[in-house]
Amino acid sequence: MNRFWSDITREITPYVPGEQPRDKIRIKLNTNENPYPPSPGVIEYIREMANSDLRLYPDPDSKVLCETVAEFYGLFPSQVFPGNGSDEILAFVFQAFFGPNDLIAFPDVTYSFYPVYAGLYRIPYREVPVREDFSIDFSDYPQGLKGIIFANPNAPTGLYMTPEEIEKLLRSRPDTLVVMDEAYVDFGNESAVPLVNKYDNLLLVHTLSKSRSLAGMRVGLAMGHPELIEGLNRIKNCFNSYTMDRLAQAAAIRAFEDDDYYREINRRIITERERFKETLRKMGIPCTDSKSNFVFLTLPGIKGPDALRLLREQGILVRNFARHPRIADWLRITIGTKEDMDRVVEAIIKIMERQVSQ
Ligand SMILES: Cc1ncc(COP(=O)(O)O)c(C=O)c1O
Repeated sequence: MNRFWSDITREITPYVPGEQPRDKIRIKLNTNENPYPPSPGVIEYIREMANSDLRLYPDPDSKVLCETVAEFYGLFPSQVFPGNGSDEILAFVFQAFFGPNDLIAFPDVTYSFYPVYAGLYRIPYREVPVREDFSIDFSDYPQGLKGIIFANPNAPTGLYMTPEEIEKLLRSRPDTLVVMDEAYVDFGNESAVPLVNKYDNLLLVHTLSKSRSLAGMRVGLAMGHPELIEGLNRIKNCFNSYTMDRLAQAAAIRAFEDDDYYREINRRIITERERFKETLRKMGIPCTDSKSNFVFLTLPGIKGPDALRLLREQGILVRNFARHPRIADWLRITIGTKEDMDRVVEAIIKIMERQVSQ
């Protein structure tokens, strides 16, 4: 606490990001990064763009990137907004569309940054409990909401809702802005992008941090009705006209051009995810049917923070949400390479055997 802090700085509870250890020998499965590198073309293009033009400001509208993304998804460039990571876009979303006189809602188990933004911008919010099996039921949500925000597949449960289910929500609440965070959609799921052309109350948020191996580059996207995109641009241009640097724009453009490479590495992640879930089921370890690049599980009889520590002692870093009572005993483990996952299974077996013998 410092005497110069504003009321909001004093009162806010900031988001706590996953640890980024310096120690390289750990198997790092705590922040849902892709275990595979960006495509060789992306690295090459970043190198090529690291030239004397860096003295010039980047294109503030990321025009070529918007055109590339629009073509990729069958949209117009006016329906695309890029940002410095999807976290930044989410911050703009909360500011652009919601205010202190609006009520918004999200599931009680979802990406834990949403309540942080709502707190930061003083937007009243309701956290609606997910069902016992962690699924979301929108009929539990109050009427008259200005916005509903959730991740699909949800985080950290990995549960996925189909575009048909989403369309039902959009149709039943035309005056509610549905912000759907598709950070993990590329891991074997169908995106709701086509619905953007049909519903003006849908805003999709994507990231290149997970399925396109660019967490270190910071690139996110929003896709929606041109007026929603204009709203985001109004806020962006009150904050920082150049959120997307030259290298980030170049990397993102090339990442969409190299789609075949990403399909292949993500196919490997999906295969590993299914194999890991099957192994857990055979071992009697409860896990959700995650459709993401992580698995959400609980080790029977072991408290979440203890499980985290026991895995860490074996050099494996995963994520636990000890501050969230409903999921305090659950772990979120990112899917790594086959070798990573074999080591995770070995470590879990060791922990469970020790548990039985105690
Ligand atoms: C659901 C969800 N949305 C957004 C993000 C943020 O991604 P970015 O790296 O694009 O800021 C994450 C990162 O973990 C996430 O899990």
